[in-house]
Amino acid sequence: SKKVTVRDIIKKKGAEKIAAITAYDYTTTKIVDQAGVDIILVGDSVGMVVHGLPSTIPVSMEMMLLHVESAARAKPRALLVGDMPFLSYEASVEDAVYNAGLMLKKGAEAVKIEGGAEMADVIKAMVKAGIPVMGHIGLTPQRYLLLGGYKRRGVKASEVEKIVEDAKEIEKAGVFAIVIEFTAADVAAEVTKQVSVPTICIGSGWMCDGQILVLHDVLGLSESTPPFAKKYADLRGAILSAVSEYVREVKAGLFPGKEHSFFSDAYNRGSE
Ligand code: KIV
Ligand code: NA
Repeated sequence: SKKVTVRDIIKKKGAEKIAAITAYDYTTTKIVDQAGVDIILVGDSVGMVVHGLPSTIPVSMEMMLLHVESAARAKPRALLVGDMPFLSYEASVEDAVYNAGLMLKKGAEAVKIEGGAEMADVIKAMVKAGIPVMGHIGLTPQRYLLLGGYKRRGVKASEVEKIVEDAKEIEKAGVFAIVIEFTAADVAAEVTKQVSVPTICIGSGWMCDGQILVLHDVLGLSESTPPFAKKYADLRGAILSAVSEYVREVKAGLFPGKEHSFFSDAYNRGSE
């Protein structure tokens, strides 16, 4: 079916819920695309769930570009979004536009950056360069040091105002959608009402225009999952039992069998 564009995503607001998920490589991008998601995010969560890093802080542009390139080879129908890693867009507007452009060169169709009003200049410059930008407010994991951990957002009144304000500012700057992470459900609902672009929520309730989850959490592959993630399968268990069975069969001489083997002409003649 028809390729999903940034325009299509905007048009879904108020008409149809948006289903988004992360994927980091060719194979999983093919599968999640076939499942019918609207947006595939090559998230910097790849650093934690694939590379075993302790946070997203050490994730580099080099890592992100390699994963975007792999995912893009699946040629998904869904909109493919590349997540900008820490330090690739904060130090200067020039660096930000350049690095975002590199994502597009590897096949991303948009980029995502964390932050609110303070990122308006960066968002404007990217959009000016022809790069669609997705915002990300509420819990911004790349700033967990400043935030004092991966804490719930928008519970205190002072925070609520800031979140709504940030959403409006980045909308004005030109984002085509806004991820709202780990934020009080009523606050995410308020943001959803106040902006004209779709809100894509994670751990921020159901009163949003769409949802996103990390693939490894959905599949039951993650070692630890945030409280808001829902596990739709137990692939950790499936892999464990499949590989254990393989080990058992190799040790017992049961694998490979004749059906996985072949013989020389001489052997075949001799056995006739
Ligand atoms: O990196 C990521 O997976 C994300 C989503 C959780 C929104 O940013
Ligand atoms: Na991210």
